[in-house]
Amino acid sequence: MFAVPPNTLPNASESGLAHPVRVAREVAEDRRRWAHRVRYDRDTRWSLLLYSTDEYEVWVLSWLPGQRTELHDHGGSDGAFTVVSGVLTERAVRSDSGRHNAEALHVLVPGQSRVFGPHYAHQVHNEGPDPAISVHVYRPGRAVTPTT
Ligand SMILES: [Fe+2]
Repeated sequence: MFAVPPNTLPNASESGLAHPVRVAREVAEDRRRWAHRVRYDRDTRWSLLLYSTDEYEVWVLSWLPGQRTELHDHGGSDGAFTVVSGVLTERAVRSDSGRHNAEALHVLVPGQSRVFGPHYAHQVHNEGPDPAISVHVYRPGRAVTPTT
């Protein structure tokens, strides 16, 4: 017999403790569930609250070439997003004492995800020539849409 470390979580498939990135990836792979609802808006990024639970919200976003977010964080929420199609570039900014002092660029292709914790600051941009779609999960859910 062996000891189970104290930080061991139960199998996520048997509980409501699925990590946001796991939810994002599962939703991203299950396109038949939501692809017919996707729209593109040439004036602003398009987003849809696909569903929410007591623990998290799941959003689908579309990005035409050149569309981007402003630099933003997610308050006290953590979460993840997964690229479904197209290519998205994330500029992640580390902020210490209210000053932005380091950043990293991540180019994400379909199937790739980014995970973030509370107060994680980033900007996401479709710099490619093709439209992009991504699935975003916020835990707990955001009070505002992710397009603001
Ligand atoms: Fe974000």
